[in-house]
This record gives sequence, structure tokens and C-alpha cells, in this order.
Amino acid sequence: QVAAASGHTVVLVDQSDEILKKSTKGIEESLKRVTKKKFADKPEAGAEFIEKTLKNLTTSTDAVAVVHSTDLVIEAIVENMEVKNELFKRLDKFAPEYTIFASNTSSLQITELANSTTRQDRFGGLHFFNPVPMMKLVEVIKAPMTSQKTFESLMDFSKAVGKSPVSCKDTPGFIVNRLLIPYMMEAVRLFERGDASKEDIDVAMKLGAGYPMGPFELLDYVGLDTSKYIIDGWHSLEPNNPLFAPSPLLNKLVEEKKLGKKTGEGFYKYK
Ligand code: 3HC
Repeated sequence: QVAAASGHTVVLVDQSDEILKKSTKGIEESLKRVTKKKFADKPEAGAEFIEKTLKNLTTSTDAVAVVHSTDLVIEAIVENMEVKNELFKRLDKFAPEYTIFASNTSSLQITELANSTTRQDRFGGLHFFNPVPMMKLVEVIKAPMTSQKTFESLMDFSKAVGKSPVSCKDTPGFIVNRLLIPYMMEAVRLFERGDASKEDIDVAMKLGAGYPMGPFELLDYVGLDTSKYIIDGWHSLEPNNPLFAPSPLLNKLVEEKKLGKKTGEGFYKYK
């Protein structure tokens, strides 16, 4: 959405037409929200902006078939190293030499992903934040093999889509998640110990620390499955780090398919 809105030609790829239809509808709705504010006094210019943005956007279920004419691939699939590596390996065979590959991974190592391709120098991390149309930050990850030229292209692209990039080495969680995930897990542990209710913890962090959402609201917003993938991955890397310890409550909710806002229930109900 933000790439198309800033004049880039975008092909959105997903697994089925049904998912793509849902995604396109989500983008249309989000564009309406953005436009309402941006073009408050000029509804016609707003409608034109939406039309222009949607013209820049096509969809496909076949990544291999569309990668031949892409300058930049941004992967944002499930947080699973094997699945991501398999995709990158396939795309690497069909993408032009000049194509830069980037992953929107929240927690996996960019170096390991880059190693599944023959273009380690043209590979980096490009990590966006939910909700992407509103959050101004992008973390640009320069792995040891990422060339300076690739890094600069990723920084330039982030600015071209209207974001403020920061850079970070290829370390678990980069900047934001390395601080945010342990904080949210500490909130869950506080609740698990019965020290405070989740409602009070959320109110406390909003009114006492000025956060726009409390940790339980944010966990539901990010998705409990995503949060679990991240913490489980870090726990396997550093089993003795108490900040990375798994939470029985989080595991139980994920097992019950209560994944947060997207499924209608997580720590809270959204029906
Ligand atoms: N598209 C377009 N506009 C949106 C939007 C979307 N998806 N979501 C919210 N907005 C707009 C609304 O339209 C509204 O615009 P308005 O000011 O013109 O009315 C504005 O944002 C504020 O929205 P709301 O009034 O509905 O609610 P809030 O004031 O609470 O703001 C929020 C919503 C921007 C999501 C805010 O609560 C927030 O900043 N929350 C924290 C988000 C956060 O921490 N994100 C990072 C998560 S971690 C992550 O993503 C990393 C990953 O790897 C795990």
C-alpha cells in the first residue's frame, strides 16, 4: 500500500486469489482512512489519489512468474526459516541479477536467509511496523555480506515510501522487537503471576508511560502466533535468558487458535 501510494509499481503476491481479494479490500479501506485525513477539504483529489494508488497495484499467486521484472522483492511470509529459505532459493533462480531481495522478518537472521541465495550482497532486512500506513519507522538491516550499495538502496527506498529509516546490525529482534517483545512477555508474566489484571496493566502503560496501546492490546494487534514464533526462536538460541522464556498462557491461547484481533479473540474478545 505505501509503496503503491508513493508511485511505485507493485505486484502483491500471496497464496490464493481469496487471500489477495481480502488484502486488496483491506488496502482500499486503509486508503480511505488515510485519504479522509490527507485530503479532508478536497474529496475529489482524495478519490484521484486512491484510484492512482490502486492502478499501481496488481496481484498474483505466482511469485516466480512475476519476479523477472522486479527491482526489489520484499518478503513478508510466515516467520519460518525453512519456508522463507525455500521461497528465496526459488526466486533467486528467476530474478534478474540486479534485483535486491529483502525480508520483513521480525526476528530471523538475515544472514541465514541470504545464504539460501547466490546474491548475499544484494540482500538485506526491511522491517516495517503495524499498522504500516501509520507507523513512520523502517529498520534497515545490513548483514555482514550486504553491500553498501544495497544498503543505500534500501535506505533510499524507505525514504521514497515516506518512512524514516534507522539501521541496525543483523542481531535478534533488531532494535524495536529486541526491546518490545521482552517488555510484552514481562507483562504476560506479571499477569500470569496474578500481580495485576491485564486490563489494569494496559491502562497503566497507556496512562503511566504514554504508550498508545497497552501490552495485551498490542500483543493481540501484532498476533499471538507471531509473538510466539519470535519468543520460541529466541528461546532456542538462548535457553537460559529469562527474558526469552516461553509463556504457558501465550502457548495455550495459540493452541486454542486465539491469535488476537485477526481471529476475533486473543487476550481480549473482538466480536
Ligand atoms: N490504515 C490507515 N489508517 C489507520 C490504520 C490503518 N491500518 N490504523 C489506524 N489508522 C488511523 C486511523 O484512521 C486514525 O486516523 P484519524 O486520526 O484521522 O482518525 C488514526 O490512525 C488513529 O487511529 P484510531 O483513532 O483508530 O486509534 P489510535 O489513536 O489508538 O491509533 C494506532 C491507532 C496508530 C494503531 C496506535 O494505537 C498505535 O500507534 N499503536 C501502537 C502500534 C505499535 O506499537 N506498532 C508496532 C507493533 S510491533 C511490530 O509491528 C513489529 C512486528 O515485527 C511484530
